[in-house]
Amino acid sequence: MPKVISFINYKGGVGKTTSAYHVACSLAQHRRQRVLMIDIDPQTNLTFLCAEIGQWQRRRDRIGTIKDLYDRYVNGVTLDVNRFVWRDAVVIGRNPIQGLDLIPCDIDLLGEDVGGSQIVGTFPTIQALKQNAQRYMKEMSFLNRVIADTGDRYHWIIIDCPPNLYLMTQNALHASDYYVVTAIPDHLSTIGLSILTDKVRNIGDTISKASTLAGQDGGRTIAELGAIVFVKVRLGGSRITTTHQDTMAAISQETFAANKVIQKYTTELIGYSEAAENRVPVWEHNSDNARRVARNNEYPEITRQLTLKLRR
Ligand SMILES: Nc1ncnc2c1ncn2[C@@H]1O[C@H](COP(=O)(O)OP(=O)(O)OP(=O)(O)O)[C@@H](O)[C@H]1O
Ligand SMILES: [Mg+2]
Repeated sequence: MPKVISFINYKGGVGKTTSAYHVACSLAQHRRQRVLMIDIDPQTNLTFLCAEIGQWQRRRDRIGTIKDLYDRYVNGVTLDVNRFVWRDAVVIGRNPIQGLDLIPCDIDLLGEDVGGSQIVGTFPTIQALKQNAQRYMKEMSFLNRVIADTGDRYHWIIIDCPPNLYLMTQNALHASDYYVVTAIPDHLSTIGLSILTDKVRNIGDTISKASTLAGQDGGRTIAELGAIVFVKVRLGGSRITTTHQDTMAAISQETFAANKVIQKYTTELIGYSEAAENRVPVWEHNSDNARRVARNNEYPEITRQLTLKLRR
């Protein structure tokens, strides 16, 4: 069975997609793992780190995206996930990174990702309450079904979530073994991180209640916090530098973060954006700025530490 990891944070622009992409690339390229990336963010950023817009449009029209899979799920049509998987999605020059696949996203998922029926409220009969819980569990279990359909084809499944905790992110958390939080180490993020882990726990409690009401047997309800990855850390002796370093140290001391902080972090460097524009991981981009990042060995080391932390 694959290890399923969701990259989450309800804050935007904190490196979820960049981290999901580079960890997936490093697992496949440096560790010879079979990896499936799933893009569930209607912004479609992970997809565009892999493919040009024209390529993506042709594929969307010919085959479809996660949105079509979602429609099939809602309408009770056989998913046939295999058909929607974009094989060898990251190409360096002419050579794909072996074993690295993608289920692409589509802006049309916007709207679908909000949803979420409630299990709170009053119901006229026990039967009505049970039916409601079953509906809730069905909404929550789309990604579970997608992943179940991939069998044991992958070692890792990496899900890139949107900057919210709505239906699709809840689906991802329900389907994942672990979630990884990425954060910029400023003061506000420190506050946000414990709120985030509390929220995830609450979502887990609700899923657990609903699954009992729906008459489904236990199983995993919610992902466990796997790791916290700090990104875009500023280096260079300024005041912000000290703040970043103090914040990382402070979070590492908090109870919820005990042993979860990955010691390697990414520094704020323009090479990341340059590589992104060229749809390759930063260690494969041929520019001075990207080479500067590559020398720091940031994501390969983050990936190495992550695999050690997530070993069961
Ligand atoms: N270490 C870094 N140094 C410089 N720029 C970076 C770094 N990491 C990510 N970026 C850039 O920051 C921007 C935001 O990163 P990213 O898209 O990964 O964040 P996100 O959390 O996925 O955002 P969203 O919430 O919108 O999905 C991107 O333009 C990305 O290229
Ligand atoms: Mg993103």
